[in-house]
Amino acid sequence: MTTLVGRFKDRTRRRLWAQRLHRSVRDSEQLKLIIGAGRTDFDGWIATEQQLVDLLKPSMWVEFFEVDSVHAILAEHVWEHLTPQQGLVATRTCFQFLKSGGYLRVTVPDGHHPWTDYIERVRPGGSGEGADDHSEPYTYKVFSAIFAKAGFDVCLFDVCLVEYFDEDGQFHANPWDETKGMIRRSLRFDERNRTKDDGYTSLFLDAVNPIASDTSKAA
Ligand SMILES: C[S@@+](CC[C@H](N)C(=O)[O-])C[C@H]1O[C@@H](n2cnc3c(N)ncnc32)[C@H](O)[C@@H]1O
Repeated sequence: MTTLVGRFKDRTRRRLWAQRLHRSVRDSEQLKLIIGAGRTDFDGWIATEQQLVDLLKPSMWVEFFEVDSVHAILAEHVWEHLTPQQGLVATRTCFQFLKSGGYLRVTVPDGHHPWTDYIERVRPGGSGEGADDHSEPYTYKVFSAIFAKAGFDVCLFDVCLVEYFDEDGQFHANPWDETKGMIRRSLRFDERNRTKDDGYTSLFLDAVNPIASDTSKAA
C-alpha cells in the first residue's frame, strides 16, 4: 500500500520532472522527442518517459506540447509493449503532435527474425529483459499498416522500412542517417553484430507526417 509520504514523494518527483520538461521544451528551437527513453539520452533530443508523456494518453501531451509542433519523435523498442490496437492509438498520438513533414523513427523486435533464440527472448513472457510485458512480436506488414492507418506516409524518405526480415527470413537493410535519430539495436550499431555467433537487429521504420498541402491530416 502506498503511504502518504510515498505519495508526497511521487508527486514531488513528478513536479520536478515536469518542470524540467517544460524548460527543455521552452528552450528548444526544434522539438525532437525520445519517447519511452529509459536510460537513453542523445544530444539535441528531449528524453521523456511514460510517467509524463504516455503514448496512450494524448491528454498528458497537451501539458507540454502543442498539436502540430514536434519536428521528430524517436521510439526505440517501445511499441512492443503495446497491443496492435494500443499501437494504433500511440501512432495517432504521435501523428497529432508532429508537424507536417515531421517524422517518427520507431523500432521493435522483429517477429520474422529467423533465429529461434531471438524469438524466444522477445516473445511475450520470453527470456529477454522486459519480455513479460511484450505483445506478440510485430512483423513488417502488420507494423507498417498501423502507421499507414494513422495517416503517416511510410515511404517519404528514400526508404520507409529501414531494416527488417521478410517472411522468407531474408534480411533487408537500407542506408539511414543516425543524425536523424540513433537506433542502437540496429545492424550497424548493435555491438552483438560484431561477433559471428550472435547478433541483433530490429524491425525499423521511418514514418513521415505528410506535408499539409499533399494530404489533409487523418482523423
Ligand atoms: C525496453 S524499454 C526501452 C527503453 C529505451 N527506449 C531503450 O531503447 O533502451 C521500453 C520503454 O517503453 C516505455 N513505455 C512503455 N509503454 C509506454 C507508453 N504507453 N508510453 C510511453 N512509453 C512507454 C517504458 O517506460 C520503457 O521506458
